[in-house]
Amino acid sequence: MTQQQNEKYLLAIESSCDDFALAVSDRSGRILFSNIHHQKHSHGVFPEHASRMHALAPWNDLDYIHRHFDIGAIAVTTGPGLYGSLAVGITIAKALTYSLNVPLISVNHIAAHILTPLWCTNIRTPYIILVASGGHTLLALVNAVDNIQILGSTTDDAAGEAFDKTARMLGLQYPGGPEIERAAKSGTPRFALPIPMRNHPGYDFSFSGLKEHIRKKLVTQELDTQTRADWAASIQHGIGNALLVRTRKALKDLNTVRYLSLAGGVASNRTIRSMFDELCAECNASLHCPSPSVCTDNAEMIAWCGLWKWKREQYAHYDILPNVTKARHSVAV
Ligand code: KG4
Ligand code: ZN
Repeated sequence: MTQQQNEKYLLAIESSCDDFALAVSDRSGRILFSNIHHQKHSHGVFPEHASRMHALAPWNDLDYIHRHFDIGAIAVTTGPGLYGSLAVGITIAKALTYSLNVPLISVNHIAAHILTPLWCTNIRTPYIILVASGGHTLLALVNAVDNIQILGSTTDDAAGEAFDKTARMLGLQYPGGPEIERAAKSGTPRFALPIPMRNHPGYDFSFSGLKEHIRKKLVTQELDTQTRADWAASIQHGIGNALLVRTRKALKDLNTVRYLSLAGGVASNRTIRSMFDELCAECNASLHCPSPSVCTDNAEMIAWCGLWKWKREQYAHYDILPNVTKARHSVAV
């Protein structure tokens, strides 16, 4: 992380949910600093608590960044996300841009996830990407950085939320996805689960029916270790299948698009990842996934989008506020 004479760097801040992340990149997109302050929860994210923790998180990092880099612009996630969490990051970014007299750049969190493979894998446009995290589940078609179409998104819970809620039904800890993956290793997916939206037109997702089905079945089950493992394997397979069925439809319908990517915490699940490998083989498509550290919430993805806007002088004004609205049809960086 040596600073070149006269070179200006971009500082990126991401605080949309319960992680506070900072990154510094040079003008070529090389990341010279990156850190994430994870919050520990045992029962899910409490928005008020998350924003209070954010207010404490970044100061040692900012001190370090201030001493090592000549910051020329600041990019910050302005939404969607939790209002209070976003507000902390945005306010810090505004204050810093004001005191350093550098431009402020607003970045959309969803667009940043969607565009990540473009900056750090060999994927080519047009591509389809499935974003499946604790807060979002959507399929998007990327024609270009400034041409992103949302094909469909969840009409109720996100896939990660479905993992977290069903894990709790199994008596597993939060976050539920990694716990279910761990438990599933010694189980077999012997419980048949419905495949939501299987024959539904369009590309939307739904997980509430699946979750309710599991809840009703579990009420009547005695959960010894093996049964719990079998349920974990069945849930993992069921949620993976729900994601797969809609993605397969998109790949079949948009048959000129042969690149696929996955992002979000759920995409780090190895069984689900291999289901998508098989899908790509079936559809003659190629799968390009960023490394897990940039698939989940991080500031590097904000830096790359911020850089794109910095080069085009697309700046935000000081009156910008958190925007918690999730886009339904298209999303802009
Ligand atoms: O992208 P992420 O780290 O944060 C946001 O939600 O923005 O995603 C977290 C979600 C949680 O719901 C968690 O249970 C799920 O992703 N997750 C997983 C796995 N790792 C994290 N779900 C399934 N399998 C995993 N290995
Ligand atoms: Zn995210």
